[in-house]
Amino acid sequence: MSDTGANSCMTRYTLSVMGNTSKIEVNQDIVHQLEARLGRLYARQRLGIEDDIDTRIFGQGINFLHIENWYSLQTVIRNTLKLTGLYRRGHRNTTRIQVRHNRVSLPGLPPGFDGFTLLHLSDLHVDMNPGAMHRLIELLHEIDYDVCVLTGDYRGETFGPIEETLEGMTRVRTHLKGPVYGVLGNHDTIRMLPGLEDMGIRMLINESVTIQHNNAHINLVGIDDAHYFRVDNIEKAASEINFDEFTILLSHTPEIYRQAAHADFDLLLAGHTHGGQICLPGGIPITLESVLPRHMGSGAWKYHGMHGYTSVGVGSSVVEVRFNCPPEITLHHLHPVVERQKTGIHRKNT
Ligand SMILES: [Fe+2]
Repeated sequence: MSDTGANSCMTRYTLSVMGNTSKIEVNQDIVHQLEARLGRLYARQRLGIEDDIDTRIFGQGINFLHIENWYSLQTVIRNTLKLTGLYRRGHRNTTRIQVRHNRVSLPGLPPGFDGFTLLHLSDLHVDMNPGAMHRLIELLHEIDYDVCVLTGDYRGETFGPIEETLEGMTRVRTHLKGPVYGVLGNHDTIRMLPGLEDMGIRMLINESVTIQHNNAHINLVGIDDAHYFRVDNIEKAASEINFDEFTILLSHTPEIYRQAAHADFDLLLAGHTHGGQICLPGGIPITLESVLPRHMGSGAWKYHGMHGYTSVGVGSSVVEVRFNCPPEITLHHLHPVVERQKTGIHRKNT
């Protein structure tokens, strides 16, 4: 990568990827905003990692193959579906969003949070799914919840401009009520952070917040992308919380389930897999683009004492079609498990 010119707020770099040369513009205003928000070290490290590895198909991240970066293969899949007459049906399926309810009983949840509801949206890929976003906005007026959490992948592509993504996210954010928290996915650049926070989304970049409700509180922790950029840091994210308290972890990918469970999180909410997006009849995914047990690829699951949920996502990526895997928005209804000391059912820290 070489510096080929600069002005007062924009620096241009030339980046060579897979033999192709492209220009990257680094807006110095965003760099300064990121340094102020995240600290100079993390901001520069995160930007540097992104610029080093953007659009690699092989060998980066948790798994080896990254089909989302293989643009010529995406064209082949799209054209094949069009030739076989399946494309239109698959494309129509992307707007058929289901509202899923996950009622989960959780040891250690404060009684004041009984019935507390989290709206979970994942993998919106807003700029490549206008039809799904239109339907999502309709559904947002029909549901009730306390807090909204977003588990990443706001952008359609993994590389390139962010303006259309931020415009799409602004439209969605307008229809979300109450506090909104989010983490970044493997399709997202850290350059989106100021824009997302300006529209009222509190992004958790290896950070935590406290949620108050009915004179009680729980902790919400969010980590940066663990799948592709591998910039997650659970230890830093959880450094300011008391693990005797109920704690939820937001991660784009569920692939960090082991680290999360053994760090004593109570609930992990994730997305990334799209549930396979193109599935065989019966919802059997062809690929989850992840390194994890198949049963963790969608819906509710449990690992040791930690409850988990993997959303199949609202949007679609690579090719904007879905088969046997409808998109979803998820309402997590939290309920405490009543402690019965005499029978040996205890809070995890007692
Ligand atoms: Fe995604």
